[in-house]
Amino acid sequence: MARVLVTRRLPGGLDPLVEAGHELVQADDDQAFTHDAIVERAADVDAIVCLLTDRIDDAVLAAGAPRLKVVATVAVGYDNIDLAAAAAHGIIVCNTPGVLDDTTADLAFLLILAAARRAWEAESDLRAGKWPGWDIDQYLGRDVHGAVLGGVGFGRIGQAVARRAAGFGMEVLHHTTRDTGMPGWQPDLDRLLTESDIVTLHVPLTAATHHLVDARRLRLMKRDAVLVNTSRGPVVDEEALAIALEEGAIFAAGLDVYEREPEVHPRLLAAPRTVLFPHIGSASLATRTRMARVAAENAAAVLAGERPKNPVTGG
Ligand code: DGY
Repeated sequence: MARVLVTRRLPGGLDPLVEAGHELVQADDDQAFTHDAIVERAADVDAIVCLLTDRIDDAVLAAGAPRLKVVATVAVGYDNIDLAAAAAHGIIVCNTPGVLDDTTADLAFLLILAAARRAWEAESDLRAGKWPGWDIDQYLGRDVHGAVLGGVGFGRIGQAVARRAAGFGMEVLHHTTRDTGMPGWQPDLDRLLTESDIVTLHVPLTAATHHLVDARRLRLMKRDAVLVNTSRGPVVDEEALAIALEEGAIFAAGLDVYEREPEVHPRLLAAPRTVLFPHIGSASLATRTRMARVAAENAAAVLAGERPKNPVTGG
């Protein structure tokens, strides 16, 4: 029997660990373990099931080694985990790809529609009693149907957004550094930005994608373009985006992720035609439960001496 630190209460999904007879170490309430508390407990556990909000850095991994065998994050993104340190300590890191693609793509499409059609601005005016009644030139947005969608990154989630776009009669372009061999591939990101009406971001956060969409690239976009980000906040320079929106360099933005969550740049909060969601891309009960289960299965596999299904490194 192994000891598994689970850093937060999860919406179910831990059965693979419970059924294998492992002991779960969890907080009594739903308070997140602080970084210090995770470091403190890491030495006495064989596995950690964590969330994207937990910083799993060298302090945690060094404290956990040599007993700690696996860190299984309940997320597809793993930029919160120091992979080099994990490899150096022989600790396997796993994530949860595949099970959240459609839920996240649904949310990306919601942001596309909401930002393009100024839905939240219109709704909040109505709720605030600021709607004087129908008029011909109120809340004029831009059409989504028939527009050119530019996907930056074209993995499972990007492709799931593209499938939805097909139903809206959109032309879909995509940019990746390696040729996907699929129709619409555009090797030049700058060109994709100049040609797209709606740009949707689906890249992992790495040194290469930090501020991939910066002030210069925002100025390449069409003045009536919409930018949607459901990937990771630091992929976009938030201050530059706020300025682009204020100056009308692009039409609208829909964001689910931020550079310093849970903080949101004050200029973005005040920027026009901006829809801001609190990182809810994968937030359906079914999907979050599936993600927890996949993380538990990955941890259980490593604890059983088997190869986990979703190793990011070390598997
Ligand atoms: C992930 O899994 O990385 C997502 O950001 C969670 O919604």
